[in-house]
Amino acid sequence: MAASTLCTDDIDEARAIDEYFPDIRAYILTIEAPAYPFAIDAELAAAGAEVFAATCSGCHGTYGDSDTYPNLLVDLDVIGTDAALSTDASQFAGRYVDWFNDGFYGEVSRLEPQVGYVAPPLDGIWATAPYLHNGSVPTVAALLDSPSRPTYWTRSHESTDYDPANLGWQHQALDHGQAGEPSADVRKKIYDTTQPGYGNGGHTFGDALSASDRAAVIEYLKTL
Ligand code: HEC
Repeated sequence: MAASTLCTDDIDEARAIDEYFPDIRAYILTIEAPAYPFAIDAELAAAGAEVFAATCSGCHGTYGDSDTYPNLLVDLDVIGTDAALSTDASQFAGRYVDWFNDGFYGEVSRLEPQVGYVAPPLDGIWATAPYLHNGSVPTVAALLDSPSRPTYWTRSHESTDYDPANLGWQHQALDHGQAGEPSADVRKKIYDTTQPGYGNGGHTFGDALSASDRAAVIEYLKTL
């Protein structure tokens, strides 16, 4: 709502937009995530549901008939993913936040900047690679096994290059980052996790799973 009213010229227009926003929200709540288009091993997915409930649900919620969403802001010390977006955004928020809260917007909502990242709902997660807030991890399999994440990688950007086994994009790990690439065309397609803001560390909650439990969780995630 804030994003769609911030660029209006006067309060009356912002108020008019705000009045129809409950309808937009109600519509958004009717939208379902797209179903996974490939085969799912139902038995493996059922095993994965149990691993998910024990290891992931506390942050990411529950799905299916009795869905719950904790809407948790996870501290940077706990999540450990690249801090730049969170710390930089809250660092510069001061005056903007006061302006927002003290004017029209403060009548209908409130901004309270805090450092950390929200654990997102995972509906349709198969379709939204690459992962983490900065898109630094090409597949769910790599997200759940942090030592396997590529430091430098590239992909075709063709939608046909989906990777159903690892749930994400087919990609090619490279032995060099943008600095070591002479061709400008190739360079701009290199995801270089050593660049500021592009780090791929943290979210190590899948690392301790056995390979079979991890495969089961991945199968379960296909059903969300
Ligand atoms: C302590 C809380 C916590 C636990 C436990 C946890 N996660 Fe997360 N998860 C997060 C947060 C916070 C993010 C967002 C981090 C970011 O973007 O920097 C996230 C991101 C993700 C993403 C990427 C979402 C996206 O849109 O890019 C996936 C997939 C995911 N988690 C799956 C899992 C699975 C599967 C488990 C269990 C093995 C798990 N998580 C356990 C907090 C948690």
